[in-house]
Amino acid sequence: VRVAVLISGAGSNMAALIDAGQRPDAPYEVVLVVSNDPDAGGLAIARAKGVAAVAIDHRPFGKDRAGHEALVQAQLAAAETQIVALAGYMRLLTPWLVGRWADRLVNIHPSLLPRYPGLDTHARALAAGDSVAGCTVHLVTEGVDEGPILAQAQVSVLKDDTPTSLSQRVLAAEHALYPEALARFCIDRFRP
Ligand code: GRF
Repeated sequence: VRVAVLISGAGSNMAALIDAGQRPDAPYEVVLVVSNDPDAGGLAIARAKGVAAVAIDHRPFGKDRAGHEALVQAQLAAAETQIVALAGYMRLLTPWLVGRWADRLVNIHPSLLPRYPGLDTHARALAAGDSVAGCTVHLVTEGVDEGPILAQAQVSVLKDDTPTSLSQRVLAAEHALYPEALARFCIDRFRP
């Protein structure tokens, strides 16, 4: 199964997805990485792993989200993408792109959804006094962080955790969960 990964930053989840997809028995392969930020560190990491990586800067488009997405979609189509995986992609998608990839668009979110959709998940979990935190892989629908849940992983919150220390523990869990959930999803979706 041909997977494209959309990123905006460091790309550590992207790297985990690429690595798992390059194992001989993997049910998917990452064939393309697209970043909306030309300075995203993940672009060079992807290229070093032999994966085509392109930047499509959203800034020249201003409020024209559809114009930016049309270029993203052109890249996805040219790479014969079958599944799109968001990995720290910090742009809201339009209903058009979400609809175009319905049931073939997944995301990872650093909380145990439905708790803490949106930003600052770790600070919010700590402020609430939660003893457990984690991450969620879900299908993307029009509502932000609202789609059907595919998989979750939990981590313990420690007594002295800060948002930074908790985010590091959750990120490590993300790196294990996302490749596994994506592989399972590809098998279920494409090999009935
Ligand atoms: C991850 O925590 C992901 O869940 C999120 O943003 C972070 C991206 O990190 N929404 P990276 O770019 O994958 O390293």
